[in-house]
Amino acid sequence: MKPRLLVTREVFDETLHYLAQHCEVESNQQDVPLDPETLAQRLEDKVGVMCCLTDRIDEQLLTRCPRLKVVANIAVGYNNIDLDACTARGVMATNTPEVLTDTTADLAFALILATARRLTEGEAYIRAGQWSGWYLKQLLGVDVHHATLGIIGMGRIGRVIARRAQGFEMRVIYHNRVRLAADIEQALKATYVSKDELLEQADFVILQMPYMPQTHHLIGAAELKKMKSSAILINVTRGGIVDDAALVRALKDGTIRGAGLDTFEGEPQLNPEFLELKNVVLVPHIGSSTETTRRAMAMTAAKNAVAVLSGSVPPNFLNPEAGKN
Ligand code: GLV
Repeated sequence: MKPRLLVTREVFDETLHYLAQHCEVESNQQDVPLDPETLAQRLEDKVGVMCCLTDRIDEQLLTRCPRLKVVANIAVGYNNIDLDACTARGVMATNTPEVLTDTTADLAFALILATARRLTEGEAYIRAGQWSGWYLKQLLGVDVHHATLGIIGMGRIGRVIARRAQGFEMRVIYHNRVRLAADIEQALKATYVSKDELLEQADFVILQMPYMPQTHHLIGAAELKKMKSSAILINVTRGGIVDDAALVRALKDGTIRGAGLDTFEGEPQLNPEFLELKNVVLVPHIGSSTETTRRAMAMTAAKNAVAVLSGSVPPNFLNPEAGKN
């Protein structure tokens, strides 16, 4: 009998066809998010799950699903998975790095440009029928070219953003837990600075690190205060890294100029005050959402799951220690 696997949200047909060659697949193609109880019930007899960042895979769930061998997340971030609990139970967890790097870096730039050049404000103005003609001081923005870009978190996506910045002839400064090797810094034309220096100097501050207890509210009132009043904050990583209440205050009182946000604390709920602000561009966690990339992410997760269920090492293994249990 083929191993039984649950796909928790809608995926593409080719992903299901591939999975069906290797597994007995139960899938939620209606795409109704599964509440924790339903998820546990549907997983009790499964050995694998392909899940998303909307599914919480924690100790409580794992206790209910003793047969589970693999949790294949369709995302690079995996803060929805309790990795230690998986490891302790010998459940292998995987993610989808690489395939979304360029696409997410593109969205970061889309937000940089949209906030700097006030694109959503301009569009709303036209749609509201308010445009009565050209004038010199209309929707004055700030320049992206030759500005200073500060990247906090210089992993895969951060590095690609740095490369994109070269096209705009930006000065790139970065902060990272570990400083990059000199040859990588040189190739990226990126200068290492302290977090404070970065906040003080950057015209655009972009966050590019995973969410974890250590990065919770990495940007709060004190950090926002260190930024230039002309600066713009971009978050395309995870909600919770920014203290959204503090950000709302900073956007309201002019502590910083603007923000471009793809992720929010407690999403899909978001601080309602964001909706009243003109100096913030809001998009609904679509960093990796191009057709090509989302297809690649789903297939990567499927291949990870099938690898584990056929006894191989998955390509994107998050907790190799789990294999030893
Ligand atoms: C999306 O946010 C991801 O982590 O892939």
